[in-house]
Amino acid sequence: MKPVVFPGEFHLATLDKPHRRKSFDCGEAAVNEWLRARALQNQEKRLSATKVILTEALDIAGFYTLATGQVDFGDLPPQLAKSLPRRALPVAVLAWLGVARKFQGHGLGDRLLAQALQDCHVAGQTFAFVAVILDCLHGGAKRFYQRWDFQELPGHPYRLFLSSKTLSKLMGV
Ligand SMILES: CC(C)(COP(=O)(O)OP(=O)(O)OC[C@H]1O[C@@H](n2cnc3c(N)ncnc32)[C@H](O)[C@@H]1OP(=O)(O)O)[C@@H](O)C(=O)NCCC(=O)NCCS
Repeated sequence: MKPVVFPGEFHLATLDKPHRRKSFDCGEAAVNEWLRARALQNQEKRLSATKVILTEALDIAGFYTLATGQVDFGDLPPQLAKSLPRRALPVAVLAWLGVARKFQGHGLGDRLLAQALQDCHVAGQTFAFVAVILDCLHGGAKRFYQRWDFQELPGHPYRLFLSSKTLSKLMGV
């Protein structure tokens, strides 16, 4: 597993009060609202964890939020479900991801996704889950994730999953 390298002017950190979240704008109102108003509170309540990439002035260039969740056995595609028990199953959730408009198109989104998946992989060595799942806001986001082998959950065109097996392969394990 190779460390994710961010360009020199950026550094990765856990979201914290001094980070300038109120001015974050990725062009998607729901994503902005999450980071500006809810991400830190949810983190303090231990409901989710948010990491940010920061400029030297502590502006947020991009972020992602991870959480844990469950999916029902019946929601998984047969090839993934066939060896699993028929009950609610643990998953890692990539709940939110965004890159500020002025930094889009320079590879930060891909790097953030790589870092988020590494975090999932590392956490999965201690707290096991069967897949990483996420909900896409729109078709563009879906194409962005599908480039990384995320696939649709049957009957849920905007809910994507990446099995833990595929995650391990992506991590070179
Ligand atoms: C989606 C988003 C995170 C991409 O960030 P980014 O920094 O611009 O992405 P990158 O520069 O790393 O692009 C990586 C690749 O994804 C592709 N890509 C980026 N945005 C895309 C989109 N909306 N649709 C399809 N492909 C996209 C790029 O073309 C590039 O592909 P390439 O390497 O083949 O050229 C960013 O546009 C964003 O924050 N959008 C608003 C919030 C959002 O939609 N979040 C995701 C849903 S929760």
